[in-house]
Amino acid sequence: MRNINALQTEFFSSIEQVNSIEQLEKVRVFYLGKKGVIKDLFAEMKLIQDSERVTYSQQLNAFKQYIESTLQATECALKKKETDRRIKEEWVDLSLPGTTNQRGALHPLTQIERNCLDVLYMLGFKFVDGPEVETPFHNFDALNIPEHHPARDMQDTFWLDNQLLLRSHTSTVQIRVLENEKELPIKIASPGRVYRNEAVDATHLACFHQFEGLWVDEGVKFSHLKGMLEFIIKNIFGNDWDYRFKPKFYPYTEPSIGVDIRSKTKDAKWITVVGAGMVHPNVFKFTGHDPEKISGFAFGLGVSRMVTMAHKVENMKSLYEGDLRVHQNLARKKYI
Ligand code: DAH
Repeated sequence: MRNINALQTEFFSSIEQVNSIEQLEKVRVFYLGKKGVIKDLFAEMKLIQDSERVTYSQQLNAFKQYIESTLQATECALKKKETDRRIKEEWVDLSLPGTTNQRGALHPLTQIERNCLDVLYMLGFKFVDGPEVETPFHNFDALNIPEHHPARDMQDTFWLDNQLLLRSHTSTVQIRVLENEKELPIKIASPGRVYRNEAVDATHLACFHQFEGLWVDEGVKFSHLKGMLEFIIKNIFGNDWDYRFKPKFYPYTEPSIGVDIRSKTKDAKWITVVGAGMVHPNVFKFTGHDPEKISGFAFGLGVSRMVTMAHKVENMKSLYEGDLRVHQNLARKKYI
């Protein structure tokens, strides 16, 4: 018969050396398994004298229970240790800001274009697009700009092969729409790129953006034009800007006007951002309409110029250069 106290000390020292669940399992099998120590000890029971058997079996049961509870406690301790280790090693600070992709932003020209479109949509205009490669008829003749007009000079217009040109203004879209639309009212808005063969400086570029509008119906008057331009300017530039109307000359409108705007800050200069007027009778005639029956107004917004003013960009060219530093700066500011 083996000494249970000695076995208990042995068990205890093997438990002390256990570092993992796997090792603990081995100890469990060694003591409690089918061929384990406890099984053997119970098997030895029959060899024990009757007088000692009760005491022996009590000791043995107590030892077995001791093993079971120690194994359980050790398992708990090991699991906790493992959890603590993982918490320490795999800890993530959930309050740290995540790594995000850089957010893009609309180009300031697109922003103002969309802004203008939104205002015009409120007034029932619809968007139309026009080609950038045009005929002289759409760019000049039908707009009442005759052959000898200086605007046709080689200096101003980019001429292409086959008597085509790069449109020098978005007013070409007026002609295209008037040619095709015979039903009234006609209310169109058309933003886009235009080209001029000009010496580039801070306010002039060979390619820039304009925004054309045309409203034709029976009984459209100059007062409608004025009211609408006021509405557009106020909606886009808000109250921090002054505006004024002034007389202008365009061959395709009669009378013609311009709108200047000026920031309300000290020493701000007036800049013309809109050209407009009542559609010239000849324009109606050239496009197959009767100027006796219908009237209308047209306007062209200088989108690039509006953006430079709204964002206080000194050199218009920087809007077109794609320098990320400039654009990040513009995107951060709320314009106007
Ligand atoms: N096309 C003119 C320009 O490029 C702007 C303009 C003036 C457009 C009068 C119009 C208009 O529609 O009626 O400067």
